[in-house]
Amino acid sequence: MQRKSVLPVGVQHFPGHLKPGEQKKLLAEIRNAISIAPLFTPTMPRTGKPLSVRMSNCGELGWVCDKQGGYRYQKHHPDTGKPWPPMPQMLLDIWQEISNFPHPPQACLINFYNQAAKMGLHQDKDEQNFDAPVLSISLGDSCLFRVGATTRGGRTMSFKLHSGDVVILGGESRLAFHGVDRIYPGTSMLLKNGGRLNLTMRRVG
Ligand code: SIN
Ligand code: MN
Repeated sequence: MQRKSVLPVGVQHFPGHLKPGEQKKLLAEIRNAISIAPLFTPTMPRTGKPLSVRMSNCGELGWVCDKQGGYRYQKHHPDTGKPWPPMPQMLLDIWQEISNFPHPPQACLINFYNQAAKMGLHQDKDEQNFDAPVLSISLGDSCLFRVGATTRGGRTMSFKLHSGDVVILGGESRLAFHGVDRIYPGTSMLLKNGGRLNLTMRRVG
């Protein structure tokens, strides 16, 4: 029997928030954004080692990281030098509907996971203030998501995220450590060649 654990206070999980038709529509918007701002491979600031996810952004600001400049937000794509494409209205609507925050998001990070990609436990803390929640949307293959306390080495729990799910880290969990342990290949037909997209909306300033 699978034991259902209680999520940490401030973590909200909305399973299947986006219906299949809405997922398709959002995917088309994200494909369009990626055609303007291609996925790039970020590198770890200290070691220069590539991350296993590939990234892009939409919105006025984008989150990037590399050996030269560290973790930061910037207005332009690191390879093309062009501004990020605008955030699709669908994303703004989802934020307005469930973030419970009065101002719109300024940045949307687009992460693409192939079947071997993962993301180590980390905090989202490159923003100037933490009043607004972080809202993330899953599309494509399912993953095992891990979330825990706001201190490294604290207790964590994991649960699966499926295509169309939304997660909010806010309030007491705004700075909760979180990561992606693994992708479950072949669990969704949404992305033609498999893999998982995660869209993370944030306010920066
Ligand atoms: C992230 O923390 O940047 C991504 C989380 C996820 O892929 O669900
Ligand atoms: Mn994160």
